[in-house]
Amino acid sequence: MKRKLSKKELREFTDILEPYLSDPKVKEMRNYCAHGRISVLQHSMNVARTAYRLDRLFGKKTDLNVLLPGAILHDFYLYDWHDKPLSIHIFRMHGYTHPSAACENAAKFFHADEKVQEVIRCHMWPLTLRSIPRHREAVLVCIADKLCALQETLQR
Ligand SMILES: [Fe+2]
Ligand SMILES: [Fe+2]
Repeated sequence: MKRKLSKKELREFTDILEPYLSDPKVKEMRNYCAHGRISVLQHSMNVARTAYRLDRLFGKKTDLNVLLPGAILHDFYLYDWHDKPLSIHIFRMHGYTHPSAACENAAKFFHADEKVQEVIRCHMWPLTLRSIPRHREAVLVCIADKLCALQETLQR
């Protein structure tokens, strides 16, 4: 997974993500903490890079214009979940609710299409039982998110 991207791959990756990374709302994710000392923006970039590498590994079969926006916006919920009061009700817990919040923001600020929204909505599966990733892009982001969260947590 650590293989360096070629110049061509790096350009492709950057060209798709640039409009998102230059947006003030996406930059706002720098202010929120994901795991340990990693910001939500850093985490989302890690997920985008990992999802892109997984796509290379598994035969370049995804639509990168779905995979990469989905990855960079998968945690676009725009609040610090550490500030939220703890809920004992499982369906109100951050892990369960943030995909919908991120999805709404992606639609509101970037007019994310249905496929990108599905990537975002399903990234916490199997926690969100009924939001099953059904297309390749959603599956790769779901896996990449777990790999990155684990690595970032162990890095603390
Ligand atoms: Fe998430
Ligand atoms: Fe995440």
